[in-house]
Amino acid sequence: MAKNIPKVTPTFLFLFTILSFSTFAAAGKNQGLSRPVSPTKLGLKREKLTHLHFYLHDAVGGRNPTAVRVAEAPMTNTSSTGFGGVLVMDDPLTERPELSSKLVGRAQGIYASASQSEVGLLMVLNFDFMEGKYNGSSLSVLGRNTILSAMRELPIVGGSGLFRFARGYAQARTYTFDEKAQNAVVEYNVYVFHY
Ligand SMILES: *[C@@H]1O[C@H](CO)[C@@H](O)[C@H](O)[C@H]1NC(C)=O
Ligand SMILES: *[C@@H]1O[C@H](CO)[C@@H](O)[C@H](O)[C@H]1NC(C)=O
Repeated sequence: MAKNIPKVTPTFLFLFTILSFSTFAAAGKNQGLSRPVSPTKLGLKREKLTHLHFYLHDAVGGRNPTAVRVAEAPMTNTSSTGFGGVLVMDDPLTERPELSSKLVGRAQGIYASASQSEVGLLMVLNFDFMEGKYNGSSLSVLGRNTILSAMRELPIVGGSGLFRFARGYAQARTYTFDEKAQNAVVEYNVYVFHY
């Protein structure tokens, strides 16, 4: 039994003491909850404004849906606004209105029918970009989308990668809507401040 217990060597004890001490020292000195840091230390230079333009393809019907209903209320099917329905989406974003045009990213998130008086969606999603220098960077959207309005505006509340500290807005316009296939192409113009 005793054989399985590792021997505590003097070297181990020495290292352990040093490591614990430096950890406590760092914690005591400046590793509290918060401390000021200069923007340049994070590599943040001048804030810039970027305009992004792309088309979102949302297919609820058809053989390869990109948005699926995951929840509903007993009244959702009889509600004229689909109130209570919740969908999860993974919609492709393309450079041109055609689905076959260059893929620049994906819109991944949730939308829920949150209005009883009109078709109004609560949208919580990330635009995950895969084009050029923006590959791997994302923008987060939290907004209201009244899909029957000519133009809808949704706030951009944050971002990652090249879009760290992002804030701005997205304007959405329905480009085409195929009612039978429940398939929409939506044009997006996004204006975002970031570093
Ligand atoms: C609503 O309609 C869908 C599709 O027709 C059906 O699958 C679902 O069971 C219905 N839900 C309720 C609560 O009636
Ligand atoms: C984006 O990045 C991923 C992983 O870093 C890579 O596999 C992919 O080829 C890149 N796509 C483009 C279009 O550069």
